[in-house]
Amino acid sequence: MKRYGAGALFSLMLGSSLNGYSQGLAFDVNAAPKGNIPGTLYGVFFEDINFGADGGLYAELVKNRSFEFPQSFMGWQVFGNVTLQDDGPFENNPHYVRLKPTGHRWKHTGLQNEGFFGVGLRKGASYRFSVWARLPEGGESQKISIELGNSSSDEWGQAYAKSELVIDSKEWKKYEVELQSPVVDPEAFLRIFLESAGTVDLEHVSLFPVDTWKGHRNGLRKDLAQALADLKPGVFRFPGGCIVEGTELGTHYDWKKSVGPVENRPLNENRWHFTFKHRLYPDYNQTYGLGFYEYFLFAEEIGAEPLPIMNCGLICQYMSATCEEHVPVDSLDCYIQDVLDLIEFANGDATSRWGKVRAEMGHPEPFHLKYVGIGNEQWGPEYIERLEPFIAAVRRQYPDIKIVGSSGPQSEGKEFDYLWPEMKRLKVDLVDEHFYRDDNWFLSQGKRYDDYDRKGPKVFAGEYACHVKGNARNQFWGALCEAAFLTGVERNADVVEMATYAPLLAHQKGWQWRPDMIWFDNLSVCKTSSYWVQYLFSHYKGTDMLKLTMDKDVVAGQEGQQGMFASAVWDENMNSYIVKVVNTSDKMQPVEINFKGLKKKQKLSAGRRILLQTDQVNSENTFTRTDAISPCEKENDMQVTGNKVSFSSAPYSLSICIIPSSSSDTL
Ligand code: AHR
Repeated sequence: MKRYGAGALFSLMLGSSLNGYSQGLAFDVNAAPKGNIPGTLYGVFFEDINFGADGGLYAELVKNRSFEFPQSFMGWQVFGNVTLQDDGPFENNPHYVRLKPTGHRWKHTGLQNEGFFGVGLRKGASYRFSVWARLPEGGESQKISIELGNSSSDEWGQAYAKSELVIDSKEWKKYEVELQSPVVDPEAFLRIFLESAGTVDLEHVSLFPVDTWKGHRNGLRKDLAQALADLKPGVFRFPGGCIVEGTELGTHYDWKKSVGPVENRPLNENRWHFTFKHRLYPDYNQTYGLGFYEYFLFAEEIGAEPLPIMNCGLICQYMSATCEEHVPVDSLDCYIQDVLDLIEFANGDATSRWGKVRAEMGHPEPFHLKYVGIGNEQWGPEYIERLEPFIAAVRRQYPDIKIVGSSGPQSEGKEFDYLWPEMKRLKVDLVDEHFYRDDNWFLSQGKRYDDYDRKGPKVFAGEYACHVKGNARNQFWGALCEAAFLTGVERNADVVEMATYAPLLAHQKGWQWRPDMIWFDNLSVCKTSSYWVQYLFSHYKGTDMLKLTMDKDVVAGQEGQQGMFASAVWDENMNSYIVKVVNTSDKMQPVEINFKGLKKKQKLSAGRRILLQTDQVNSENTFTRTDAISPCEKENDMQVTGNKVSFSSAPYSLSICIIPSSSSDTL
């Protein structure tokens, strides 16, 4: 066991004699700034996994709204005289349904949608039903009725809310009506009846809450979008993840199919429906309803830099059996053009080909895209030989765009060691590192970035999460290990430009992967301990890096440091020092922070400490106890004596110590 030097230990009244307390630890913080904290440091990674988009953030409540699922009526129950047609008005989604009377006055024609694990209804909320319809035979107007209801309800009638639409044209037209739900029901249905004696065709049957994020039509689910906005993410990675790659060439995420009128965006397979046979969801597909326009807009609205990850001509390397399945290196042109066109879609003048598409969708101003990732989690020479021509083309046309390359799926090892030097050789701006590792690994990585080459490329910790052994969900212990790791990220914010936890969202009834940052069901949101760790690091990331040491060594859980991890920043907007202390031990640890190099006039005050802690380290937030583990604020529980600040760090805790300085002229 390492012995501490004189500076590392101090005695508090609580000292070592009390049970459960350790000897005090003394940290030194040098008040001289060491460099800026990048605004992008903490961000979000979004992928349509765990029903994260369709059935999740994307607020559409109807599953298989265009009848394009491989089983055309998946998600629907049809009754009476309903037939599938395939010469509809939308080229990319040709199917629609034809409703004819049954010929018997007691029998009904219609269809019912089950939603995503039900249609979630909130009491008093309004829902906008819309449908494209026509009278194929012309003639008199025909009526359809629309119901929101539940067959298992105890009420005499199954419908909670009803309305009608009159279809009055031989031509395809969009019809809309709003229904208000008088009840809360997470698992309702949408039912449509043909009410008159003629024939009606229906296409793109849709139901959205009126109250979406910022009220956008084709919008996002408000509570989930708000939970993401509340994180104040600096960067927003999209659309994945493996979704970028595709299982075969035809199924990679194709951004061009995700823009323009939503009715004409084609369906894409979602590889997460079959990737894990033990978590099979055959009804999971991508509608591209939450496409690149909606993504750029949302990123802009929450102040995050967009970071699209693009396909580099490789399908999922885990799934491919032979190299022949990938795009040949000499046939990459259209994939490269996709990247150039996406940049034009985001940033181009409204008169440019793709800038015009953006403008027509409602955003004539550019989205100011600065980053693009080429390849998700690719590896091997087959990646490098494809990446090179992409880099050349982007550099040629858009020299200011920063390019992100991949270091493969592993946090270290053969592929990682091959790819990093290649990334340097190719002069990418950032390298995307992924690590889904256990608690021991996270606790061993406190100094991971201390010795990284400062000459670049920078690091994008693009997918990470602590997977506590035993297939745990989102135990507090895992989140604490992530916090410990993030102190090392923050200390090295000159080399780590961004970090995004993954995956972001998971439907309680439709997940394929865990842990995840935010769980949700049809009506509620459950923020995990990992969410709160991200929230606290993001809100208190500060503006300038500071050096924090104990006995001249960084505090990163090394031997003798009693399971402590710590980092320090200055926040010029809060005019405060912020010290983050992670106690991964089962001991109460008295901590003294000694600020060195303060200006003469500068006075520190007690400020406040935000604490994330629970006595049950293996516990987690659940839908019945969503706030069981959440930050709490401690006023005046830190003592200030001159340039020293002290407090007691509880066992298994994250403390964010906010220490205001009297003078703004500190740096
Ligand atoms: O986050 C889940 C998956 O993990 C991502 O899709 C992929 O990039 C990684 O393997």
